Amino acid sequence: MNYKIAVLPGDGVGPEIIEEGVKVLKAVQQKYKGEISFEFEKALIGGCAYEKYKTPLPDSTVELAKNADAVFLGAVGDWKYDTLPPEVRPEKALLGIRKQLNLFANLRPAIVFDELLDSSTLKPEVIKGVDIMVVRELTGDVYFGEPRGIDTIDGKRAGFNNMIYFEHEIERIAHVAFKTAMKRNKKLCSVDKANVLDCSRLWREIVTYVSKQYPEVELTHMYVDNAAMQLIRNPKQFDVIVTGNIFGDILSDEASMLPGSLGMLPSASLSDGKKGMYEPIHGSAPDIKGQNIVNPIATILSAAMMLRYSFAQDSAALDIENAVKNVLKQGYRTKDIASENSTVTSTSEMGDLIVTELLRN
Ligand code: IPM
Ligand code: MG
Repeated sequence: MNYKIAVLPGDGVGPEIIEEGVKVLKAVQQKYKGEISFEFEKALIGGCAYEKYKTPLPDSTVELAKNADAVFLGAVGDWKYDTLPPEVRPEKALLGIRKQLNLFANLRPAIVFDELLDSSTLKPEVIKGVDIMVVRELTGDVYFGEPRGIDTIDGKRAGFNNMIYFEHEIERIAHVAFKTAMKRNKKLCSVDKANVLDCSRLWREIVTYVSKQYPEVELTHMYVDNAAMQLIRNPKQFDVIVTGNIFGDILSDEASMLPGSLGMLPSASLSDGKKGMYEPIHGSAPDIKGQNIVNPIATILSAAMMLRYSFAQDSAALDIENAVKNVLKQGYRTKDIASENSTVTSTSEMGDLIVTELLRN
């Protein structure tokens, strides 16, 4: 099979990590010669696109992404764009591409690797064995709800956004979450704020309704404030979490601290079909860009998610994941996850080690 991948390195450390991700995908191609091949095509997104085209999300980038089988994204944003008007800020490109490609389901795994138990700020006994999948709705909620704005109401200035979910939006993300749970430990926790928000009351009603089609999955509901607390208190109680856009934004950042480093966590954003966008959950980290020290593992694991979710190449995905685990087992670490006995590597050395390991097996 030949797959077309739209490669969007973006800003900050984006180009460095994407280079390593592409390196690993090329190694997969070599290993699975005759079975898997990739066609990579690059485009600009974020601040770098703004500099060239005066928009962070050029039409040509959207076209390329729409015509590709999958999108491989680095990161967007840099301090130098912080003063730009909101419509052309790099973050707008991220929201725009999610919406235009209808990527409503965001999967964010938080897996604690035994090798990295020390990297977390939490006690090893609390996090050992944590394996959580956060399923975050990505194209609705206060992020996109209308009306929105800053206006004068009764002579007083006010800022407002609308938290709104349509039934069909809740239903389709619920299906993704239940299906995900079916492939795992069959436990799903739906997170909302139904004790206060009407929007959440509908959320809970629809998720409960959809659950009838998945009798094997044990469904629980949790208020978001409690969920935030439980994630730290006893993260092992969770298998799959499903929640709306804003709660998911916050809880997925929180969950990412269980493994200790943002530099380890991949993500997939999916639509109805096989099309998906794959990116590390960390940002563009402009403070360390161009130094060859950023951790490329989150991006490399995102490439594995691409193979699994968009291309159904599970064995190649596993190969990447195992290669990462083995390289960690051998004691190699980028600076962000280094501990006393580890061998510190640069970004590109880490990529090379993972490639060597992948081709060795
Ligand atoms: C994320 C980010 C984005 C979001 C920002 C950069 C717009 O925080 O992907 O979690 O809020 O969705
Ligand atoms: Mg976020």
